[in-house]
Amino acid sequence: MAPRKIIIDTDPGQDDAIAILAAFGSPELDVLGITAVAGNVPLPLTELNARKLCELAGRPETKVFAGCARPMVRDLVTAEEVHGKTGLDGPDLPDPTMPLQPEHAVDWIIDTLMTEPAGTVTLCPLGPLTNIAMAMVKEPAIVPRIEEIVLMGGGYFEGGNTTPAAEFNIYVDPHAAHVVFASGVKLTKAPLDVTHKALMNRKFIEDLRALGTPVGIASAQMLDFYERFDMERYGQDGGPLHDPCVIAFLLKPDLFVGKQCAVQIDIHSELSMGATLVDWWGQTDRPKNCFVLNRVDAEGFFALMLERLARL
Ligand code: RIB
Ligand code: CA
Repeated sequence: MAPRKIIIDTDPGQDDAIAILAAFGSPELDVLGITAVAGNVPLPLTELNARKLCELAGRPETKVFAGCARPMVRDLVTAEEVHGKTGLDGPDLPDPTMPLQPEHAVDWIIDTLMTEPAGTVTLCPLGPLTNIAMAMVKEPAIVPRIEEIVLMGGGYFEGGNTTPAAEFNIYVDPHAAHVVFASGVKLTKAPLDVTHKALMNRKFIEDLRALGTPVGIASAQMLDFYERFDMERYGQDGGPLHDPCVIAFLLKPDLFVGKQCAVQIDIHSELSMGATLVDWWGQTDRPKNCFVLNRVDAEGFFALMLERLARL
């Protein structure tokens, strides 16, 4: 079976990093390119981190593009308190020698979707949805050509992690999320309701370190740094590994349980801006536009992540 063609849109971010590395360690996936977006840290750092990760994975031939430097309407909000000032605090990764592609990420997403056979490319957004929404606005013809969008974002039963109502990726660019969720594209999302059930433990991090490879050691160093924030906030014995849930769903969807629901984004209220309003109980006749994941086999998820990173 031919590998599934994917574009990873990302704001690395330690959890983005594990997702990117897992994708590179999975022959079932063909990473056509990586598009960076402003989110956890500003764009100059997210694109730099994306290239650092490609070289860490031994994939310097990967095309990396810089996308949007700010959300569509609101000012950029970043998360250095979680990810550190570099966005990838933990390991000391060397500056990349591989080039940043000259084309803007939004234009490359459009060109790729218009060139590849319709319905053969899956988009995997791991950060704010600015690049994806801007591509849809600039060239609406791409929407029916997208095979599926599988993203990390939102929270419903779990609430938010940036405000009481909103999760970071959606909160940073709620208008972009509105464009994507209203587009009619085939959509699956991994919200906090599922990622907060994928809590790392010390064994997972030590198993990564015990690989003894540059990827294993650097990943352990990233997660040592990254997990402290959520452990302090939630008082649990491990932080949630958000973005890798997207890649795990592509590889082994049976690890997850979800439900097709109507999901809308609050873009009106300052109190709940960026909230993902999930009609979980089918109380409205709104279109069921999103497959919402809410349970995961955590043991199977972490075993899969370790096994894929071990291949690099
Ligand atoms: O809320 C978690 C999400 O926000 C993850 O994608 C993390 O990397 C940050 O971007
Ligand atoms: Ca992210």
